[in-house]
Amino acid sequence: MAYIHLDGVSRQYGSVWAVDRVNMAIEKHEFVSLLGPSGSGKTTLLRIIAGLERPTQGRVLIDGEDVTELPPHKRGVAMVFQEFLLFPHRTVYENLAFPLRMLKLPKGEIEARVEWVVGILALRGLETRYPNQLSGGQQQRVALGRGLVGRPKVLLLDEPLANLDRELRQEMEVEIRKHQTGLGIPFVYVTHNQEEALSMSDRIAVVRGGRIEDFASRADIYDRPKTAFIAQFVGRSSRFEAIVAGGDRRLALRGDGILIEAESQPGLALGERVAAYVKNEKVRLKPAEPGGADAPNALPATVRHVILRGAYAEYVLGWSGGELIASRPRSEAEFAEGAAVTAFWNAADVDLFPVSEPGR
Ligand SMILES: Nc1ncnc2c1ncn2[C@@H]1O[C@H](COP(=O)(O)OP(=O)(O)O)[C@@H](O)[C@H]1O
Ligand SMILES: [Mg+2]
Repeated sequence: MAYIHLDGVSRQYGSVWAVDRVNMAIEKHEFVSLLGPSGSGKTTLLRIIAGLERPTQGRVLIDGEDVTELPPHKRGVAMVFQEFLLFPHRTVYENLAFPLRMLKLPKGEIEARVEWVVGILALRGLETRYPNQLSGGQQQRVALGRGLVGRPKVLLLDEPLANLDRELRQEMEVEIRKHQTGLGIPFVYVTHNQEEALSMSDRIAVVRGGRIEDFASRADIYDRPKTAFIAQFVGRSSRFEAIVAGGDRRLALRGDGILIEAESQPGLALGERVAAYVKNEKVRLKPAEPGGADAPNALPATVRHVILRGAYAEYVLGWSGGELIASRPRSEAEFAEGAAVTAFWNAADVDLFPVSEPGR
């Protein structure tokens, strides 16, 4: 039996189902992210696990116990928020000790536990400071410490890094993951930021419209998107519309000025409309060949802009049907703006989804 079980959990607000029939099983050693756009129901789902929100339907089980009717402080869970929510007129020490004072632990135990989180979160020397005397990263560490100090069975985190700049966020990602591994308790991490989810998680649940679109390993979510929504939301890719034109071992797809070859896929009929996604880093470039052949997965294009992103360069390419993007390591040969190129990719790198009729 998994450590956390969500069994048919739904939450209705007026006419809106913020969470809609969610089933999830999370293991004790796991770092799980709930990844989805704003308004998809991530916070509501997390608050239901925490006991801050009652599900309209369904049950929540933690460590074998049905906690659906239990208040937050009896569930052994802790939650860390984006806004840190530190007490401004209390020192770091008092902020960390606060949850333990609420639990009425003996003084010696409180000192030992605060000492423990001060140690693991590198807060030593800051105990007597007030929150406004701390950097953003230090404040977030204190917020994390306040979550961990009660030795929860589960730590729930709601966009805890959203207020930090990119560099600090990336440092904290490594740190948070390290603590989860060290503590051996599940972390359930809410974010709309795919980079955060991909950097830390064992598994990612993609949330859309209150439902779990897929719950799988981060590699599967990224490399084998199960739906068009996931292909669009995770990673960066170009999209082509086409019609299934034939093929047996490989599928041939014909679009407006483009011929695509993809691995064959069950359930697609001849003449069906499909959307094909190719991730930016899968699009390769070579100089245009004179009289360029009409080969599949090869597009004559022109370099419109080159965007430098540290170790990578992003090539925004114009082709007869619109734009596509190729992202390449800077260590590879560069193409100048205005250069004529051929953009090409492998059939295995095409993610294919039927295009549903409008209004369906
Ligand atoms: N207390 C509430 N009252 C009414 N509607 C709410 C309430 N909380 C959330 N919602 C609605 O539920 C949906 C999901 O919200 P939320 O869980 O906050 O999404 P997310 O965290 O993914 O941005 C949204 O449509 C939101 O407006
Ligand atoms: Mg939210």
